[in-house]
Amino acid sequence: MQGDAYLKCIIPKCGLEYPIESTNVQCEKGHLLDVKYKNKPSPELKEVFYKRRNSEGSIFNESGVWRFRELLNFCQIDTENIEECSKYLVSLDGAEGRQSKPYHMSKAADFIGIANDNLWLQPEGYNPSGSFKDNGMATAVTHAKMVGAKKIVCASTGNTSASAGMFAANEGINCDVYIPAGQIAPGKLSQAYQFGAQIVEVDGNFDDALKQSLDDAQNYDGYTVNSVNPFRIEGQKTIPFRALEYLNWEAPDWIVYPGGALGNTSSCGKALMELYEWGWIKKIPRIAVINSEGASTLSDLYNGEFENEKLRWNKGNPNTELISRYYDHLDNEGIRPKTKATAIQIGRPANILKGLRALEFTNGVATTVSDSEMLDGMSVVGLNGFDCEMASGATVVGIKKLMGEGIIKKDDVVVGILTGRQKDAMIPVDYHKNTENTFAIPPRN
Ligand code: F0G
Repeated sequence: MQGDAYLKCIIPKCGLEYPIESTNVQCEKGHLLDVKYKNKPSPELKEVFYKRRNSEGSIFNESGVWRFRELLNFCQIDTENIEECSKYLVSLDGAEGRQSKPYHMSKAADFIGIANDNLWLQPEGYNPSGSFKDNGMATAVTHAKMVGAKKIVCASTGNTSASAGMFAANEGINCDVYIPAGQIAPGKLSQAYQFGAQIVEVDGNFDDALKQSLDDAQNYDGYTVNSVNPFRIEGQKTIPFRALEYLNWEAPDWIVYPGGALGNTSSCGKALMELYEWGWIKKIPRIAVINSEGASTLSDLYNGEFENEKLRWNKGNPNTELISRYYDHLDNEGIRPKTKATAIQIGRPANILKGLRALEFTNGVATTVSDSEMLDGMSVVGLNGFDCEMASGATVVGIKKLMGEGIIKKDDVVVGILTGRQKDAMIPVDYHKNTENTFAIPPRN
C-alpha cells in the first residue's frame, strides 16, 4: 500500500492541494495538477515488476500499465489483492501496454545513421485501440469509475477518442467525443463510431474542440479524459517504465516523442522526476520533443523563435504572458496548425507548462520536422516489419535531425516512442506510389 495520494497544483508558489477524489483538471487559479504520493516506493519493486511478466493468470500483471501499479496507486488499494484490484482498476483484460516494449530496428538505425545497438524504438501502436492513449485511458477511466462518473468526455485528433470509446464501452459508461470535423484519420473516426461513442463534430481544429469539450464537460457533468486530466499522465508514465525496465533500469541518453498536446512529454518528465527522486535511476535521460513544422508551438517558444525569448519552466515561474502573446499572434495572423500528420495538428498544447517542466528537468530539446520527413520516418519503420502512423514517424526523423545537428551524439543510447499505428490506409499507398519518395516501392503490373 502506497499511502496517501492527493492532487497538487504544479506551480510551486501556488501549490494548492485537493483530495484524490477531485475531478478538477486545474486548481482554482487555473494551473494544472499533479497526482502526488506521500510514500517513496522501494527499488525492490523492480524485482516484483519483473516477476509479474509471468502473469500467473492475473490480468493486472499482464497489463503493461497495472504491472507497475504500486507506482500509480492513486486508488490506494492493496495492490497484491487481486479482488481489490478487480473492483477498482480498469483494464481491457490486461491488454493495455501488454505488447509494448522497445525493439531494435536496423533499417531505421541505418537511415538515422546510428549504431543499431544504440537505437530502441517502442511501438505503442499495438495497444488494443492502436495507440499509446490506452496507457493513460486505463488510469483516467479508473479514476472516473472511482468518482462514479456516468459519462466521459474528450476532444481528440482521433486516437484519444478511439481509446476513450473503447474503455467506455467496456465499462458500460457513456462517452462523448469532440472532433475537429473532417480533420481526423478515417480509421480513427470509424473506431469512435464502432465503440458507440457519441461524436460531436466541431467546426474548427483540435484546439477549438478541446475548448468546447472542456466547457461542456463542466456544464453537463462530464468527466474529462484528455491529457489535462492528471490521471491520464499517471498511466502514461508506464511508457518510459517499460522502456527502462527493458534496459534493466539503465537510463538511456535520450527519450524521444512526437509532440502534440504534450501529455507524453509531461508524463515522461514526471516518471523520470519520480524515479530519480526515489533513487531508481542514477542518470536523467534527456527528452526530445519533435513537433511538425506546421504545428510548432513548443519548438517555436522553447527555441526563442518568438520575440527572441526562450520560454522556460524557470523553476516554476514560466513567462505565461509570452505564451499568451504567441497565441494572440497566431490568432491575429490567422495562423492555424497545419500538417498532414493530423494526430499532432495542435496549436495550443494544453500541457505546455508540464512539458516545459519536463524539458527543464531533463535538459531536453524541441525541434521540428516536415511532413515529407515524417512520411519517410513512418515508412522506414514499416520496412522493419512494424506499423506506425505518420505522427510517429516524427520520432525517427527527429532523431536523425538531432544527430545531424550533433545534439544527439553518435554513441548515445536513444529510445524513440512510436506513438500509434496506421489508421489512414491511403497514406502508405500514396507514399509508395510516388517513385520520388525515399523508401517507395511502387506497384508493378
Ligand atoms: N502521436 C499520436 C499518434 C497521437 O495521437 C498524439 C496525440 C501524439 C503523438 C501527441 O501526443 O499529445 O501527448 O503530445 N493525439 C491526441 C488525440 C491529441 O486526440 O488523439 P501528445
